[in-house]
Formats: sequence, structure tokens, C-alpha cells
Amino acid sequence: MPQALSTEQVKELVQLYAQAARNAVEAGFDGVELHCANGYLVNQFISAHSNQRTDEYGGSLSNRLRFLREITEAVAEVVGKDRVGVRFAPLFASTDEARVYLGLVEENPHETYLEAVRLMEQIGIAYVSLAEADWDNAPELPITFRQAVREAFSGLLMYAGKYSSERANKVLNANWGDLIGFGRWFIANPDLPARLLNQWPLNELDASSLYGGTAAGYSDYPRYRPSL
Ligand SMILES: Cc1cc2nc3c(=O)[nH]c(=O)nc-3n(C[C@H](O)[C@H](O)[C@H](O)COP(=O)(O)O)c2cc1C
Repeated sequence: MPQALSTEQVKELVQLYAQAARNAVEAGFDGVELHCANGYLVNQFISAHSNQRTDEYGGSLSNRLRFLREITEAVAEVVGKDRVGVRFAPLFASTDEARVYLGLVEENPHETYLEAVRLMEQIGIAYVSLAEADWDNAPELPITFRQAVREAFSGLLMYAGKYSSERANKVLNANWGDLIGFGRWFIANPDLPARLLNQWPLNELDASSLYGGTAAGYSDYPRYRPSL
């Protein structure tokens, strides 16, 4: 059975995040992204559904954001705030979907994640990456939320999740974000930027090989060859 961390252990974890970031930069990485989305540990602190702590890391919104704040400050301190990014998953979904999605959906995602982004602004990190729901008929991020995040954060904003070039351009042209991330399209198209730029057709993704563990579906998707 999973066991709740003691308050002391949470504080040790903050130091371990700092050490891990230091190690990464010493090993030659340009920067560190703190993964605070999709049900991972930091997300579990943020969500009122999963966070059942009664110490200073649970309860009120500012308590639930304390772990996020402490690790971001600690990591920014050791590697420099301009080398730090953070990924959130502000899922706007009905309660039913919340139950199936790791039980992590907030009662008020707008309030929770706007506050989280404001914290990131105070610390002054390089970018915030927002992971959007990427399954069929997934809930869209409300425009009011995109606008509020844009106003609250002066660094770079990235979005990812089920983007087509058309949707990506819409977000960029509206100035809601600076960068768009592609997942599945990139897996199936090693030359994706050139294909998007030139409006070349895309390879179909073979979803059955996504977790295959061999070269098939990993390094054998062809680059685009214009027919002569
Ligand atoms: C095969 C696969 C595995 C993924 N694994 C993770 C993961 O472990 N953690 C995570 O946060 N996101 C994961 N993602 C989501 C991606 O980080 C990204 O947000 C998503 O693929 C973007 O949507 P798109 O594929 O529609 O472009 C995964 C995506 C794919 C396709």
C-alpha cells in the first residue's frame, strides 16, 4: 500500500528535486522541466481530490501549491530560473471524467491553475507548458482561461494535446501561446516541421506499435519523399 510522506520526508524530497536538477545540468542538459501534470507526484499535491494531507502541504489552495512552490524555488536556485520550465495539466472536465482520469480534476481548475501560474511568474521561470486533454471528444480549455494565463505569465507559454496545424495557428495567432508541442504526429513523422511548413502529407500513426520496444514504429517511419 502507498504510504503518506511525513512532513519531514516532503522537505527532503524538495532537496532531492534540487539535487536531481543540479545533476541534470552537470550532465549537460540545458535545463529542467518540472513535470507537475498528468497525475505525477506534484499533481497529486495540487489536486484537492488526491491530496488528503492535514499538514502545511494539504488543505487550502496555497498549502496544496506549497510543494510546487518549494521545488520550483529550490530548482531555480541551483540551476538558474531561466533554465526551468514547468508542465501542468489544467483539465476542465465533468465529475464523471474526473473519476476516470486519476481522480485529479479540480473543482475549480481555473482558480487552481491560474494561481499556480502566478506562482511561476513570481519565481520567474522560463516557460510554462500546459498539457491539454488528448483523447477523442476531450474537453477544450476555455478561452477565458487561456487569456487569464497569458495575462498572468510573462515567460513563454506552450500548449500540447491533439493539435493540428490549423489549431496550432489559431492559438499562436490569437497570442494565447508562444509554442505548440506535438506528440503523436512527431512519432510518426521524423521530419514533421518540414512537412508542416510545406504542407506535405503526414504518415499515419500506427498506435499498436507505440509501446512496442523495438525499432518498429520507433525509428522506421519514413521521411517525406516528393514523387518525381
Ligand atoms: C506514446 C505516448 C506516451 C506518452 N506518455 C506520457 C507520459 O508518460 N507522461 C505525460 O505526461 N504525457 C505523456 N504523453 C503525452 C504527451 O506528453 C503529449 O502531451 C501529447 O502526446 C500531445 O498530444 P498529441 O499526441 O495529440 O500531439 C504521451 C503521449 C504518447 C503519444
